[in-house]
Amino acid sequence: MIWTKEQRYRRIEEASKEEILKLQSEVEGCQWRQTFHIQPETGLLNDPNGFSYYNGEYHLFYQWFPLGPVHGLKYWYHTKSKDLVHWENAGIGIEPSSKFDRHGAYSGSAIEHEGKLHFLYTGNTRDENWVRHPYQCLAFMDVNGKINKLEQPVIDHVPYGYTDHFRDPKVWKAGNEYYAVIGAQRENETGCVVLYRSLDLQNWNFEGELRTSLSSFGYMWECPDYFELQDQGVLIFSPQGLNPNGDMFQNIYQSGYVLGEPLDVRTRTLTHGSFQELDRGFDFYAPQTMLAPDGRRILVGWMGLPEMDYPTDKNGWAHCLTLPRELSIRGSKLIQQPVKELQGLRKQQHKIKDVLFDEKKVYEHFNGTSFEMICEFENFDAEVFGVEFRAGTKEKTILKYDALQKKVILDRTFSGEPVGEQYGTERKCSVDGSKIKLHLFADISSVEIFINDGEEVFTSRIFPGADSKEIRFFAEGGRALFQASKWDI
Ligand code: FRU
Repeated sequence: MIWTKEQRYRRIEEASKEEILKLQSEVEGCQWRQTFHIQPETGLLNDPNGFSYYNGEYHLFYQWFPLGPVHGLKYWYHTKSKDLVHWENAGIGIEPSSKFDRHGAYSGSAIEHEGKLHFLYTGNTRDENWVRHPYQCLAFMDVNGKINKLEQPVIDHVPYGYTDHFRDPKVWKAGNEYYAVIGAQRENETGCVVLYRSLDLQNWNFEGELRTSLSSFGYMWECPDYFELQDQGVLIFSPQGLNPNGDMFQNIYQSGYVLGEPLDVRTRTLTHGSFQELDRGFDFYAPQTMLAPDGRRILVGWMGLPEMDYPTDKNGWAHCLTLPRELSIRGSKLIQQPVKELQGLRKQQHKIKDVLFDEKKVYEHFNGTSFEMICEFENFDAEVFGVEFRAGTKEKTILKYDALQKKVILDRTFSGEPVGEQYGTERKCSVDGSKIKLHLFADISSVEIFINDGEEVFTSRIFPGADSKEIRFFAEGGRALFQASKWDI
């Protein structure tokens, strides 16, 4: 179905009760609704926004177009949780209702200030010629969960030298000053990040561009996030317009980070190493982090990508958020581990230990459509070994280690209903070690795989039939010893 501009920019209250009920029932009838991921009740979800801890709870909002599986008029939808695992839907957070955000309450972040949770976000507007005019807007939530907006934008123009692709403020506090990074495009159509400073979140001073060594790296950087971790500076962003390079940059758009010295806010210099992808799977974009009250840095991403069709579209909804991941630094790498609270989802544990010799085997209890599984392979001389899951007569998703190439490979060629095949059906990345640990979270239509305790992560949607639920372990061209634990969720 082709969506007209009028259909995309309809407000939720313009839809009749019957229309919403019909959409809800289409969504409910979808075979790929998730069981433990944040997903929209109807319509399209994209970036995580305003991820924070306030008044005794975690708050996580997302970009939402309620009326269908397309990028239309964006709202912020509010979810909250006491444990990062069980999320409650809390209704619309920010509506695109003012002159300064009338074509979408676009992405932004949250910070507590004077007892209220403040949101700095991009108000997207279009003029009569459909030219964009972005504003950076402020809203605040009180302890009762009521959100109000400041009437005027706090940043009302794009600074000289940048185009109207200027959005997604991420705010933090250092000493008694607030800083915000904003994703931008230079007039020469290269992407970058700019820095603002404020004492009160209302009056912002444009400090200038962050000086990185990536002067020509894609045409736009979306959703920047800056934080310090283990005494290092980390800049996460989502660059658009990179060409595939070996196993890297295989998706339509990328998300990654640079790591180095803490940002010098006076000179705006970030001395850093090379850009590394955060995730090696098929569906991951626009992540945002928050600082938990216990000091953990936690990241959530959008398990989807712009400008791609997904099989759930025909049921009136699209996308979900990833599980929350705790970040740390090991060597020159950002490590991602599922937050420990996720163990609270585990039901009964099943265990196996076996040696595979050029064979494929199944085991009692090792099956399912939503589960957590940890497999450790060692003492291997096999050329290839791994696991097939969500497998049935025709379908399977293959996760394997190619010991000759020393690469982990995720293959969704036979995963079920195809998605984004024009971007290939395999993702690979180099991993070395005498032990290979695969930690999977499979939900009805997704899998998140943490390799060797978070050294690499593969996040992907998959769309198998409900009866594809076998788990098979295999080794080819030799032997592999493995042990596995599996919990239904
Ligand atoms: C990233 C993004 C952001 C923007 C938002 C709009 O996916 O394009 O740059 O704020 O989505 O929904």
